Amino acid sequence: METLVVDHPLVAHKLTVLRDVNTDSPTFRRLADELVTLLAYEATRQVRTTDVTVNTPVAPARGVRLAQPYPLVVPILRAGLGMLDGMTRLLPTAEVGFLGMIRNESTLKAETYATRLPDDLSGRQVYVVDPMLATGGTLAAAIEFLFERGADDVTALCLLAAPEGIAYMDEVFAGTGRPIRLVTAALDERLNEHGYIVPGLGDAGDRLYG
Ligand code: PRP
Repeated sequence: METLVVDHPLVAHKLTVLRDVNTDSPTFRRLADELVTLLAYEATRQVRTTDVTVNTPVAPARGVRLAQPYPLVVPILRAGLGMLDGMTRLLPTAEVGFLGMIRNESTLKAETYATRLPDDLSGRQVYVVDPMLATGGTLAAAIEFLFERGADDVTALCLLAAPEGIAYMDEVFAGTGRPIRLVTAALDERLNEHGYIVPGLGDAGDRLYG
């Protein structure tokens, strides 16, 4: 998996406030929204476009438009919902599909409880959004599911990632030749015994939605 940790002072500043245990829920939501737009700028560098010509008031100008089929944005419920608006602000023509997944806090295994996606994702570029990549179980299962439906290019946007999660993703998708990218605001130190990212930011779902 190709991993990009976005190195930018505004990203670092917003992430620092996001991590702070004293940051309240409304501020947390706003910052998550702002951060995803900054990450999305990097994550969409390979978005597919087609060449077009438009007429300016002066002369024809060559340019590009997003290619069809338009990208699909998939937030992983529930915490991923906090990143959806930031994505669709940058990609207003994107279609949106939903995956409801929860990590069993005893086994740390991901369980899927809701699926609302187009049946056929053939040829689609997909952007998966979820604030946390911890053990990687959730994201790996989500991406496997998307490939099974025909997606041919998947980029994940996470606010935070743990080295264990990245290693797991590499293990699962090693040798598959699947094009997978991860764009994150930070790569943290490790997971603790409860599977929480350290230093992390706590439980993103709880901090967003209580
Ligand atoms: C969190 C997070 C990821 C997952 C990461 O969701 O948003 O989806 O855990 O863990 P993993 O990498 O170890 O699989 P959670 O299961 O807490 O559900 P929620 O979004 O509904 O709060």
